[in-house]
Amino acid sequence: PYAVTDGCIRCKYMDCVEVCPVDCFYEGEVMLVIHPDECIDCGVCEPECPAEAIVPDTDPRAEKWIQINARYAAIWPNITEKGAVPADADDWKHIPDKENYLLT
Ligand code: SF4
Ligand code: F3S
Repeated sequence: PYAVTDGCIRCKYMDCVEVCPVDCFYEGEVMLVIHPDECIDCGVCEPECPAEAIVPDTDPRAEKWIQINARYAAIWPNITEKGAVPADADDWKHIPDKENYLLT
């Protein structure tokens, strides 16, 4: 499956949600995740993300992030339509290693 990585944190552009054919995105306060068991590996979400936060399972970071995505997809609500993007999303877009902001 594909996975959302920390690039999404505090950006949450949600363009990915608009294109996913199986609606397998789940929404937390600061980021979205993909349910690994529901993703059909179509790949259309990856180029849609302005923050380049979505990776395929061949990416070196995928193993760790697929686990994180699975954990939160089980407890966060499903999201099927793009909502309001955070006003400061662009300020966070190029900040590296945002994992520490996941639970703040
Ligand atoms: Fe949805 Fe396809 Fe992205 Fe998987 S790869 S999350 S099925 S758009
Ligand atoms: Fe996040 Fe990119 Fe989607 S910033 S909400 S993974 S479009």
